Amino acid sequence: MSEPDLFSSAPGPELRVAELWRQLQHHNHLYYSQAEPEISDADYDTLYRELETIEKSHPHLIHPNSPTQRVGSVPNPAFAQVSHPVPMLSIDDVFELKGAEVPEAELITFYERLQKNLGRKDIAVTLEPKIDGVAVSLFYENGSLEYAATRGDGTIGDDVTQNVRTIRQIPLTLPSAHAPGILEVRGEIFMPISAFAQMNEEREEAGHPAFANPRNATAGTLKQLDSRIVATRPLAFLAHGIGAYKGEPLKTEIDFHQLLDRLAIPRNQPTRIADNLAELLEGIHFFRNHRADIDNATDGVVIKILDRSEREKLGSTSRAPRWAAAYKFLPEQQETTLKAITVQVGRTGVLTPVAELEPVLISGSTVSRATLHNQDEITKKDIRIGDRVLVEKAGEIIPAIVRVISHLPAAVPFSLFDFVHGKCPSCHAPVTKEVGFVAWRCSNFECPAQATTSITHFSARKALDIDSMGEIVAEALVRHRHATSPLDLFSLTEETLANLNLGNEDSPRRFGEKNAAKVMASLHLARSKPLNKWLFAMGIRHLGESAANELSRLHQRLSDIPTSSLLTELLRDTRADAKKKNPVLVPYRITGDVGPAVAESILTFFQSEAGHHALSRLAELGIDPISNNHAPFYADSPALPLNGKTFVITGTLSQHRDHFKELIEKNGGLTTGSISKKTDYLLAGNAAGSKLDKASQLGVTVLTEPDFDYLLATYK
Ligand code: IVH
Repeated sequence: MSEPDLFSSAPGPELRVAELWRQLQHHNHLYYSQAEPEISDADYDTLYRELETIEKSHPHLIHPNSPTQRVGSVPNPAFAQVSHPVPMLSIDDVFELKGAEVPEAELITFYERLQKNLGRKDIAVTLEPKIDGVAVSLFYENGSLEYAATRGDGTIGDDVTQNVRTIRQIPLTLPSAHAPGILEVRGEIFMPISAFAQMNEEREEAGHPAFANPRNATAGTLKQLDSRIVATRPLAFLAHGIGAYKGEPLKTEIDFHQLLDRLAIPRNQPTRIADNLAELLEGIHFFRNHRADIDNATDGVVIKILDRSEREKLGSTSRAPRWAAAYKFLPEQQETTLKAITVQVGRTGVLTPVAELEPVLISGSTVSRATLHNQDEITKKDIRIGDRVLVEKAGEIIPAIVRVISHLPAAVPFSLFDFVHGKCPSCHAPVTKEVGFVAWRCSNFECPAQATTSITHFSARKALDIDSMGEIVAEALVRHRHATSPLDLFSLTEETLANLNLGNEDSPRRFGEKNAAKVMASLHLARSKPLNKWLFAMGIRHLGESAANELSRLHQRLSDIPTSSLLTELLRDTRADAKKKNPVLVPYRITGDVGPAVAESILTFFQSEAGHHALSRLAELGIDPISNNHAPFYADSPALPLNGKTFVITGTLSQHRDHFKELIEKNGGLTTGSISKKTDYLLAGNAAGSKLDKASQLGVTVLTEPDFDYLLATYK
């Protein structure tokens, strides 16, 4: 039964409600499925509002399948599971062959197998578009939608009834005169290409991330637990199959189509019948020529045996029926002009060249850009600005340039490096390319285009070990503009972190108080992490862990590095060396971990705008990381008395503290301001206070001034 017959026995609002259901369903179908409305929007609204009004004063008459219930309702806590009465199978693909004399050879083989199995030459089949959407099953009992489920693993799927009810093309009730006792309709939910494009435009305008393609957008939408969000998305449905069924026998696919039409369930179109192989091949040509006319993503044609009793004879494998095949077209190609090349800076700082094309229609959508991947790709295909090129759109993949058809007479080869003048288009820092790699990258640790990666690297265990700060969190921080560089982490409040949305606005996922507290605690610890960790964390090119350790051995604190004479000399030395004259000898012994490339990279970084910015941010934050292995003069044999020893000075000494500080540093030691377990000595003068207590607590050796003199004197 379509209209709720429990109402029809009693006079009063029930009868009117049933009538309104029927009328609204009818106009809904004309409007959404047929695009042929019979009444004006205003008249529709009047009917709709009348039903709403009755329902308001008689809440017991509100049924989940009422036309007023399509706007979505309270979120599901989770999806219930539905076990399919008949398994939802897949279809075997047959591929169009590239460059073959008979591109349909695989399809012919499929047809020949049907001939062999059925023992005759001519087998009638239907052809229809293969929709690239998400498969669903709609279960109607006595004309009322009982549930809608996704395919899942084919046996058990998710109950997505609340979401599916919002799709206006799907009838919630079927006309009672034709409704079978049980009808399980199968079909695809998808987004029409035009509606998808418009939705993405609106999302981008509103600052929401765009969806990659209609299929992803559809799958993501159906997974929403909040059906009110689903109601705002332009989902559509087309039926193409049947599962459980109790009703008039359906001899052929055409009988099934007629049933769907009587029930006003929208079905996949156009359908063609082919009585023999020749007609089948002709049908394939027809669909190939009309691919662009269909407003949903299709990647082929589904071929099914017309006669349903013959299907049963052939049966199915555990995966797919033997009576059907999906013929997959080769990706469509079109010729167009490459107007310009632009460069995008990706999340990891990689510069990606993008072809700006004269817009061209391919597989039903307009293509105006195509990725050129990298310089090697451009060189290999000899792609130049102004070229006529062949563009291909393969399924969901981003359009690509297959090959160049012709160059403009004056066109010159494209060089990515020259094009960007060696600078990142996003932040103008120098671009670099590692030996053996094809991609140019931005060298800037604070480049906004690569903020996520910098923050993730900064927070890694080997770097500053910020708890819970992985890529997803970093990405969310950047997306919500809470951080554009790693040092911004230090300005975050615990509240901002706790409220951070790791999901999207449709399915939000809070970072939460617990995680926020963990991040705050590790940020606090990070402030006093040693120099080598900080240097590594900053993600400066060529600065790996061992180079960071070596630099930390050679310098006392971070603020010494930008003006490091050692690094300047190292650089000067090699440059002079390269010219083979006036070699300057580096007066330090440096391990191979720090060479001229590292020196250059570091000095360049600290001289760059980003480097200056990082230094001043660190100064503001009161962070100046200290070496924990400072021993500048000799790499391997500690010949200085205080090599690698850490001192804290306290109390009143015979001379100014700076005197002792200098003395310590001259002898290879290091002074810090506060005592920790890593402190080797506390040099304590008179009236030493809390530091003395702390030292004894931590077991740090306390030296009086005479002890200190003795230590230095006896070393030699
Ligand atoms: S008929 C037993 N017809 O493609 C399977 N399926 O790749 C018979 N699909 O699971 C299905 N368009 O979800 C059929 N015109 C069409 C289709 C179609 C898309 C989906 C369907 C199937 C999947 C297999």
